[in-house]
Amino acid sequence: MKIVIIYGSPRKGNSYKATQIFKDEMNKLSEIEFVEYFLPKDMPNFCRGCNLCFVAGEDKCPDYNYTKPILEQMLLADALIFTTPVYVLQTSGCMKSFLDHFGFLFIVHRPRPEMFRKKAFVIASTVGAGIKDAIKTIATSLKFWGVNRVYSFGFATFGEDWDNMNIKKREKIISRIRKEARKFYQEVASGKIHYPYLYILLMFYIRKMIMKRFERESSLDRRYWTEKGWFTGENSPFRKLGGKAP
Ligand SMILES: Cc1cc2nc3c(=O)[nH]c(=O)nc-3n(C[C@H](O)[C@H](O)[C@H](O)COP(=O)(O)O)c2cc1C
Repeated sequence: MKIVIIYGSPRKGNSYKATQIFKDEMNKLSEIEFVEYFLPKDMPNFCRGCNLCFVAGEDKCPDYNYTKPILEQMLLADALIFTTPVYVLQTSGCMKSFLDHFGFLFIVHRPRPEMFRKKAFVIASTVGAGIKDAIKTIATSLKFWGVNRVYSFGFATFGEDWDNMNIKKREKIISRIRKEARKFYQEVASGKIHYPYLYILLMFYIRKMIMKRFERESSLDRRYWTEKGWFTGENSPFRKLGGKAP
């Protein structure tokens, strides 16, 4: 099993330490290849808003030298893990900037069929607040990439860093992380593909309708959809997922 991890902070603090426990627990169940990227080192630039990824192709992004290898690894992986500390009640800025660079993968643009088979897990830590929104920002992007299921775990430190934390409290967090890691491993190993998130499915069909009515034949998204057989309906990124997926 291969898993890509995107760390939303260079700090080897609470989120990092929790992630190491998650990794160790998964590794107990089978040998896993983890490919790790640290932000902002592995994506040091903000999205410039040039729109080139949308209209001319992701290879025209001024940061393509950063996005290309990461996307290649993510597409090859069986699962993805994203981590973030809560910063001002949200996901970290470098994580948001990372996600901005992959907007072209959204279901309404050029999602990759490989994503529709993947599971993802988001780990977040906070002193006390913001977990829900921080996780939601990441999970929303992943769902819009087509990722089949996104799971998460967030914990509050109440201001005590990992190593100084009350032992009982830390043990409780560790035990929960281990439990989540075992569940996630089983979920990924099962290869089970769940019915797509309904609003993602809906977005796909709405986008197709809009494309048919309003979009130039030469547009990049429309050419991509045509090439994949999604535009005519002869294929869909959900179709080959087994079960009752449309
Ligand atoms: C710039 C910054 C903003 C933060 N904002 C919040 C916040 O809004 N709410 C909160 O409860 N904790 C906040 N924190 C605390 C971190 O979320 C918390 O310490 C977290 O566990 C740090 O994760 P790390 O050790 O992986 O870096 C903030 C920390 C920093 C550095």
